[in-house]
Amino acid sequence: MAVPSEFIEELRARTTLSDLIGKRVKLVPKGGRLAGLCPFHSEKTPSFYVNDGDGFYHCFGCGVSGDAISFLRESDGMEFMEAVRFLAEMAGMAVPNSAPVDSQKAEQRKQAIDALEYAAQFYQANLSGPVGTTAAGYIASRGLDANIVAQFMLGYAPRSGLYASLQQRKFPKELILEAGLAGISERDGQIYDYFRDRVMFPIQNRQGRVIAFGARALGDAQPKYLNSPEGPTFSKKAVLYGWTQARALLRQGLPLLVVEGYMDVIAVSASGVAAALAPLGTALTEQQIQLVWKLHPEPIVCFDGDQAGQKAATRAIERVLPLLEPGKTVRIASLPAGQDPDDILKTEGADGLRRIVAAASGILDSLWQRKFSEYKLEDARTQPGARAAFWVDIRQMVRSISHNQTRTAYLDDVEFRIGAMRAGLKGSAAQGGSYTAGQMVRPRRPKTGLRVQYQAALALLVRFPELFSDYAEELAMMEFEDSELEAVKKHIIDLLIATPDLDEAALRYHLEALGSDTMLDELYGGDMTARLGAIFNADRSDWTATKAKDILREIMDRLLHKTRRSALLNRNRL
Ligand code: UTP
Ligand code: MN
Repeated sequence: MAVPSEFIEELRARTTLSDLIGKRVKLVPKGGRLAGLCPFHSEKTPSFYVNDGDGFYHCFGCGVSGDAISFLRESDGMEFMEAVRFLAEMAGMAVPNSAPVDSQKAEQRKQAIDALEYAAQFYQANLSGPVGTTAAGYIASRGLDANIVAQFMLGYAPRSGLYASLQQRKFPKELILEAGLAGISERDGQIYDYFRDRVMFPIQNRQGRVIAFGARALGDAQPKYLNSPEGPTFSKKAVLYGWTQARALLRQGLPLLVVEGYMDVIAVSASGVAAALAPLGTALTEQQIQLVWKLHPEPIVCFDGDQAGQKAATRAIERVLPLLEPGKTVRIASLPAGQDPDDILKTEGADGLRRIVAAASGILDSLWQRKFSEYKLEDARTQPGARAAFWVDIRQMVRSISHNQTRTAYLDDVEFRIGAMRAGLKGSAAQGGSYTAGQMVRPRRPKTGLRVQYQAALALLVRFPELFSDYAEELAMMEFEDSELEAVKKHIIDLLIATPDLDEAALRYHLEALGSDTMLDELYGGDMTARLGAIFNADRSDWTATKAKDILREIMDRLLHKTRRSALLNRNRL
């Protein structure tokens, strides 16, 4: 499969990128360059620039960029070699021979796709023929008109006939079996049509070629939906239903929904409210999420309002979080219990769906709400520990975001929410909730021993800021009974949450700037250094982060044990 890199370079040089892209996107001169509406996200003013000089395109709206080959891969869903061949043909160059095994495999795949596309036509023809009356009636009863049926190439698989018809067209038996269009009976070894008496939903790849089918039973036959088996042309995890149709609809600037079912994709598309895509009856994979982002920077996940759908939405959030970055996020729409988007359109029409889309929450809002009720925090009988567990959980999830600045932004938001939650709790206690003794008589200065331990904890933290994330929630919850130390602690928390990567010097610098210099003198003073030296049982140069971590753990445990939460509250309201 390897093509010499010189060939690729030559190919790039001979390709005029604006000719290639200009066939799909209207390009006009703008500021000395060529610009157009970005084909990879929906926009109303051009921010997609093509540079023939270096052969690269870039969109300032969604951040995509690349060359002629990546353009064909992204916009037309071509494989690398397909794109190379396509460009070579345009440029009148001959592609150097690739390995024969690959070309044989490629040929087989091509034939399998031919067979699948023939099958799609066969099913379409049967839907309009006499055997298809019941299926056609069923489709009509679901409110789909001829236009949408054609757009999604819906068909009907009769009880038999496809295999014979494929054979007539000289498709080899092995190929038909491999394409998943027929199976061999275990009972008598006979070959039978894989799909029988079902409404057929062709599944297309990003180039619009048919690579598999989803098939719905008429009536109550089981399973309700049957999918093509996985094979050389088809991997469920890598495909989304409705890709080509969604891409076309998005040119009208509609929002993009990620839904659960075939019928949802079709009903939503027909409604004109949004474009839609669906995974094929499995949880959304990372690969699929990345694919969705190729079409829209902020798709809306709109799973069924039942328990399974809500679980799927939570899993989708967990999958999406690590992948978030500028220009790649999602929103989550919530549907009434027991309803899918198709049901909503039936009962409340396009406006009903529009309302749901407009009300979609941000990913963090949605996560917060889900976890809040998972920990039963709206229930007055829930114990305070559940709040701590909730904070630990939500901070941990948000820390999974790998893009640094995005993580920082989300963590800031989480801390703000937690702060508001705590402030709200204090407020509700002050307005007639129960007070605890600890809160009424708060000593300004604790016993010396305790104060030294607070100091030691902070002294370790400023020297080993990398340990912070392990203790963030405990530190935030624990109130140091010393106003100066408490202030330094808050500064440390704020700084490290805003910039988790601060090192010792930078942290010290910022703390000084915040006016904590006297306290820093204490934390770095001879007394403290001697004290820590004794605990480490080593000179400063031999203090390791691993050892520091153990020591800090011990100190924190002791402190947690000694300090009472100063606000024990009777309400768990936000
Ligand atoms: P649903 O059971 O929610 O069906 O499955 P639906 O989409 O609402 O279909 P209708 O409205 O009853 O016709 C959602 C998706 O899960 C997969 C399919 O991809 C389906 O669209 N599924 C469901 C299967 O793969 N097999 C099944 O037996 C059922
Ligand atoms: Mn449905």
